[in-house]
Amino acid sequence: MRTLAKAELHVHLEGTAPPELVRRIAARNGLALPGRLLGVDGRFRYTDFLDFLRTYDLAASVIRTGEDYRDITYEYLRSCASAGTIYVELTASPDHAAAVGLSDEEHLGGIARGIDDARRDTGIEARILISAVRDLGAERALRIARRAAERPHPYVVGFSMAGDEAGFPARDFAEPFRIAAGAGLGCTIHAGEWQGPDSVRAALELPITRIAHGVRAAEDPGLVSELAARGTVLDCCPTSNVVLGVYPGYEQHPLPQLREAGVRVTLGSDDPPYFGATIEGEYEVCARRLGFGEDDLREITRTAIDAAFCEEGLRSALRARV
Ligand code: ADE
Ligand code: ZN
Repeated sequence: MRTLAKAELHVHLEGTAPPELVRRIAARNGLALPGRLLGVDGRFRYTDFLDFLRTYDLAASVIRTGEDYRDITYEYLRSCASAGTIYVELTASPDHAAAVGLSDEEHLGGIARGIDDARRDTGIEARILISAVRDLGAERALRIARRAAERPHPYVVGFSMAGDEAGFPARDFAEPFRIAAGAGLGCTIHAGEWQGPDSVRAALELPITRIAHGVRAAEDPGLVSELAARGTVLDCCPTSNVVLGVYPGYEQHPLPQLREAGVRVTLGSDDPPYFGATIEGEYEVCARRLGFGEDDLREITRTAIDAAFCEEGLRSALRARV
């Protein structure tokens, strides 16, 4: 499994920092760790999805500087590279950076340094998706999309939206997506994780080519056919879905069924230390629990590279490495 080339399109940057790194960052910023962040077992503590989002915000609240973002990026990419990963799209959240008073320049500058340092040391490549937190409303998402459109950064290749899918439906965010897509950014959105097929249909009204999760589309065969016909890519995170309780176990996860129906799928770890996930582990889950063979896994990597929002030159170079 180590030697199989892997690519990851769905992972949230703050969500890659394990407790030990969050602790180190808090200490050097002179901050106490928020009281309810970790359980007695030393792991991130949460009870359900919305509580997970609160815990995520608590961890992010001690990440304060460009150097913090450099270190988180670097350490994550290094660990991915050691597991045979050749490309990662990191979902970055200007909302979390702004909440601690960090400018876009410092935020993106730190992430870019982490990408450059990881490439130098391991050969891994990465790009950035700018993501809005939908819970903060359409106005805020609009500002983020406008900033991304007006101030292009060579590593920012896409626009995304995360947060509470059920409380903040996709239809309210048409304008930010129109602006991002108009500026040439690839677009994706979280849908079909905590809401069913209707939410995925609403996502398809936006100028997106990928969906983060999207798995609950499996509840509607007509929608599955539409996803297959359109070639929409679902960036799936089986371990995240099982740990958060979208499905009771891997056996109930619809990834194989979606793939058999012709839907293009890739694998992601979402928020790795929160779920005990890694990108290598997601490939392992597919091999050991979902019945995928080596050729299937290689095709998943190829799909990720084909669907990546990076520039064509990099895509060709990555294809040659699979
Ligand atoms: N933010 C971080 N992880 C997320 C997830 N799985 N769904 C929605 N928003 C998120
Ligand atoms: Zn996600």
